[in-house]
Amino acid sequence: MKDYRKLLLNNKAWASARLEVDEHYFDDLSKGQSPLFLWIGCADSRVPAEEITHADPGEIFVHRNVANMVVHTDMNLLSVLQYAVEVLKIKHIIICGHYNCGGVKAAMTNKDFGLINKWLRNIKEVYEKHYDELHAIENEQSRFNAMVELNVKEQIQNLAKTSIVQKAWKNSQLPHLHGWVFDIHKGEIKEVVNISAGEWESPVFKYEFE
Ligand code: CO
Repeated sequence: MKDYRKLLLNNKAWASARLEVDEHYFDDLSKGQSPLFLWIGCADSRVPAEEITHADPGEIFVHRNVANMVVHTDMNLLSVLQYAVEVLKIKHIIICGHYNCGGVKAAMTNKDFGLINKWLRNIKEVYEKHYDELHAIENEQSRFNAMVELNVKEQIQNLAKTSIVQKAWKNSQLPHLHGWVFDIHKGEIKEVVNISAGEWESPVFKYEFE
């Protein structure tokens, strides 16, 4: 059997199973969404947002890219962010990185990867910023893990630097920002940073709104 056929068959079985439990399941689902969470995660196939948090359809608004980055010129991310914050009025933004992230690993080497160099550059900026701190760690795996955590913290900062988040903080004290790392060896998520409205300051990146 063609491997992709498995996905279509599984989908049919899933839809039937849902209807067996609740015959109005898809009627209700089609009425609209009001998720509480925006998830910004890595595109890695081993870190599926809903699966590892046991969430149902309708619960998490999801954006994924290589190494869970918040790049201030990324129209895709910014569009998702603006819609999630201003229209869906989500209460929490979660940036979830993961240990053994291939994107982070690649950015810590000096290899040329072609086009993806442009994306990895954003991760390299984080690496360079924390280079001395990271290279004080002798064990290579520990250094790699530390970089994954630092990258999540930096991406949380990048979220806080956006006028989208700052305006929402001013108007509604929401959303809360959460930086997490998924431990692929244990299946568990570790919290590495939390920031709420009023807890973030920057003499450079804080906007004054009219
Ligand atoms: Co990854």
